[in-house]
Amino acid sequence: MLDDTEDRATFTAMVDGTAEDYAKVTAAFGKFSKTLPDRVLEHLKMLQGDAGGFAVDRLEHSLQTATRAHRDGRDEEYVVCALLHDIGDLLGTFNHAELGATILKPFISDANYFMLQNHGIFQGYYFFHHIGLDRDAREDFRGHEHFEYTAQFCHLYDQAAFDPNYDSMPLEAFEPMVRKVMEKPRDSIYLRDDGTAL
Ligand SMILES: [Fe+2]
Ligand SMILES: [Fe+2]
Repeated sequence: MLDDTEDRATFTAMVDGTAEDYAKVTAAFGKFSKTLPDRVLEHLKMLQGDAGGFAVDRLEHSLQTATRAHRDGRDEEYVVCALLHDIGDLLGTFNHAELGATILKPFISDANYFMLQNHGIFQGYYFFHHIGLDRDAREDFRGHEHFEYTAQFCHLYDQAAFDPNYDSMPLEAFEPMVRKVMEKPRDSIYLRDDGTAL
């Protein structure tokens, strides 16, 4: 994936960098950023196998959540959020919701970002009371403009997506949606003033 033959900058400390150096860095970033969906999809596949004690593994749960949202008529951005909502599971073991939200933040609405970022606490409504936690922890967000939106995601799709007999769509069916939604950031420090990406 990484190209060893690419033209490299010559500075050894950034204080010595020149525009010529950064033309090379920027060209490399332009290529690298376009393959972000590939890296995300590859990482999502790593959720296969480990079920975390649930009846289906993490990948099946993700596919099932996305399939339920898609069949319910949700738009592509929402479905992609549903597909990737637990992608932070492997590296964000204690804050998986925030990690997934952070990966998608440049590409999604404020409502979807809030939903991803906080779905862990909202999902807790369905099981925290079984493990000695407060199922009403989500009440801290009551009154927030995206409270119901997030509660609905958990109720309709996330908490309902642990059925081994559900007919989930395959990952390949969602790939074009992931590529489309992640095609161009709408919010990033790497966007120029005229809105063009590097
Ligand atoms: Fe989650
Ligand atoms: Fe989930």
